[in-house]
Amino acid sequence: MKIFDLHGKVAIVTGSSRGIGRSIAEQLALAGAAVVISSRKADACETVAASIRAAGGQALAIAANISEKAQLEHLVGATRRAFGTIDILVCNAATNPYYGPTAEMTDAVFEKVMHNNVLSSIWLANLVRPDMAARRDGAIILVSSVGGLHGSAVIGTYNVSKAADMQLARNLAVEWGPENIRVNCIAPGVIRTDFARAIHEDPKVRSMLEKELPLRRIGEPEDIGGIAVMLASAAGRYMTGQTIVADGGAMIR
Ligand SMILES: NC(=O)c1ccc[n+]([C@@H]2O[C@H](COP(=O)([O-])OP(=O)(O)OC[C@H]3O[C@@H](n4cnc5c(N)ncnc54)[C@H](OP(=O)(O)O)[C@@H]3O)[C@@H](O)[C@H]2O)c1
Repeated sequence: MKIFDLHGKVAIVTGSSRGIGRSIAEQLALAGAAVVISSRKADACETVAASIRAAGGQALAIAANISEKAQLEHLVGATRRAFGTIDILVCNAATNPYYGPTAEMTDAVFEKVMHNNVLSSIWLANLVRPDMAARRDGAIILVSSVGGLHGSAVIGTYNVSKAADMQLARNLAVEWGPENIRVNCIAPGVIRTDFARAIHEDPKVRSMLEKELPLRRIGEPEDIGGIAVMLASAAGRYMTGQTIVADGGAMIR
């Protein structure tokens, strides 16, 4: 048995038009899964889906804004209609609209961050659960962050949401383990995507950070995709409720 194999599996990856989500979708497809590429922009999703199909994979673009429950219901419904079922869910898209002290944060900002980064993942997980429970097999992956493991004076609210991902994974792992649904997090460190532009586009900030990293470089989106394959496949079948950190060694210093 090839334990990293995903042939016959169907995966939804939110925020997969670029960055970490795209890397995850591409690696799941290379391992054999049919993947649904999703973000707010249909064109960008179609470009990624087309490139996966051109490489011999199976991919479909379905746009959805994670903040809208009805759009997530459509995402899951349209996936079922196209591929029959859902075996793998990757909640990757997230929002970070606020940089600054907690004392100055508005309620609206807090609610938006928790809505997009936590509540939307709960909606999606609940939507795919019946498919997974029916076959007693499923893998849910939440893309958290090392930010959820330490304090911050700048992105503290975002970090609250990323710590919540880790707890959500533990809760769902306990609740749905008897149905053989596994729920885990990936916690990346700084990865060179649009999301982390403020860090990697400033040469001073970047080199200061890289000097401190045991691996001496910030991450690339491609550093994360393979971890999702492990968590989604039989290779990760006895793992649930966990958070895998992939940060170039930042957290162990
Ligand atoms: N980059 C890092 O250093 C880093 C570190 C730790 C954790 N993370 C986490 O990794 C995940 C992905 O981040 P990334 O760095 O890959 O970001 P990115 O390159 O900016 O990509 C974000 C993706 O999410 C989509 N998206 C954004 N808002 C959305 C919404 N409301 N509804 C649906 N899709 C939405 C974007 O497409 P559209 O604009 O078309 O919607 C895009 O596909 C996030 O959960 C982030 O917290 C990133």
